[in-house]
Amino acid sequence: MSLKVVVIIGTRPEIIKMAPVIDEIEKRNVDNILIHTGQHYDHEMSDQFFLDLELKKPDYNIGVGSGSHGEQTATMMKGIEEVLTAEKPDIVLVQGDTNAVLAGAIVASKLHIPVGHVEAGLRSYDKSMPEEINREVADVCSKMYFVPTEESAINLLFDGISPKDVFITGNTVVDACIRNLEIAKKTSKIESKSYFGENILTLTMHRAENVDNKERLQNIVDALMELKDLSVVFPAHPRTVKNLEKFGLLEKLQKADHINLIKPIGYLDFLLLLSKSKFVMTDSGGIQEEAVTLDVPCITLRYNTERPETVKAGGNILVGSQKDKITDTVKELLSNSNLYNRMKKAENPYGEGNSSKQILDAILGLYNEDKLKINVPEDIMKDKIRGLLRIKENISVREFEKKEDLMVKIVFEEGDPIFPYDDLSLKDKIILFDNL
Ligand code: UD1
Ligand code: UDP
Repeated sequence: MSLKVVVIIGTRPEIIKMAPVIDEIEKRNVDNILIHTGQHYDHEMSDQFFLDLELKKPDYNIGVGSGSHGEQTATMMKGIEEVLTAEKPDIVLVQGDTNAVLAGAIVASKLHIPVGHVEAGLRSYDKSMPEEINREVADVCSKMYFVPTEESAINLLFDGISPKDVFITGNTVVDACIRNLEIAKKTSKIESKSYFGENILTLTMHRAENVDNKERLQNIVDALMELKDLSVVFPAHPRTVKNLEKFGLLEKLQKADHINLIKPIGYLDFLLLLSKSKFVMTDSGGIQEEAVTLDVPCITLRYNTERPETVKAGGNILVGSQKDKITDTVKELLSNSNLYNRMKKAENPYGEGNSSKQILDAILGLYNEDKLKINVPEDIMKDKIRGLLRIKENISVREFEKKEDLMVKIVFEEGDPIFPYDDLSLKDKIILFDNL
């Protein structure tokens, strides 16, 4: 018997960020099944990415389409359950925080199929976001957590997840970005388009909290109307176009000379556009990551982010949806070259572009050790020991765990949490431990 993987995708960013993982699965000749939930279905939101990324067609398309959260998730769950029951994979991989992740993680875990959550551990701590609920629920259901940074790993540890199940791999968006920008430079024709020019501000937005809210959307549009020194290229998500129209804001944008409102573009075109932009303004999750990867300063139209690493690195500024804050930030960036250059030079916190390789290494490692299983615990009534301990001796996490038959859950150094890497010395640190 050999490893069999089911990969679930449903929206544009999942296709993009799972493509390098699918490539790596195929490179290693691992048996795999691809399920598309069909949440994104327009050519430019789905098929275009299969073409750009040379992905095989999905083996199953659940065809869920658009709908309310409950309706969409329920239909996905039903469809995914049928496929998983028939295919019986060893692991199900989901990515990010969409409804596909919620549906896939719940269904697979109830069938006792291990779930691998790619891009686990992100937290905005904003429970009004549907994505935050999806992330948290998926993380309750998962068996393997592929987290982009140590910060996201620590978020999981604070939720009680075992560090042994957490793999700090970087983000697969870097794998996708690095590989495909090179291809884009050779093949993309976007530079010949009339909207391509100097001083480009690339803009995207689609978050429910921005585009479903008339006041917020109006503020952002008002700010855009003032940014006349820039050439705004705005590949608009269908949700955004529908709401701009509904709130009577679409015509205003279409008539503005400095704004190019276009349909969503393919990934290769988008990467080239982004890489040639003066800066990017967005409420997208993936674009915050791509911006810091491609050294493009990012202005985020949100009040919080589950990607705080980009802000700490200095490459991202949160402006929310207030008109003056947006325009003042753009003006400051245009006039203050020190600030602009500092943002450009922000270090990418998301790894070197080998996340997919690390993800496959971890899965195959567990599978080959026969540990890719959901086991019924034998000694359910065993007393649980847990507590805090200050360690004086020079002993590594691995040595301590072996000696004491305990697991180190979180390490604190002068009050700051750090991930309990096996080789980490525990000398003069405080640990949170338990025996499970
Ligand atoms: C979804 C994800 C979001 C992710 C985004 C990526 C959830 C809860 N949300 O949001 O986390 O950031 O995808 O883009 O899973 N529509 C079309 N054509 C399409 C797809 C959508 O016209 O191919 C329109 C429909 O009117 C639909 C609306 O866009 O009602 C919203 O689509 P939906 O899939 O519900 O959520 P997204 O906003 O795309
Ligand atoms: N993207 C694209 N074409 C576009 C807009 C975005 O290819 O017109 C890509 C972008 O490079 C990124 C991903 O779509 O990889 C982000 O998707 P989105 O913003 O829809 O979702 P989020 O990342 O917020 O979940």
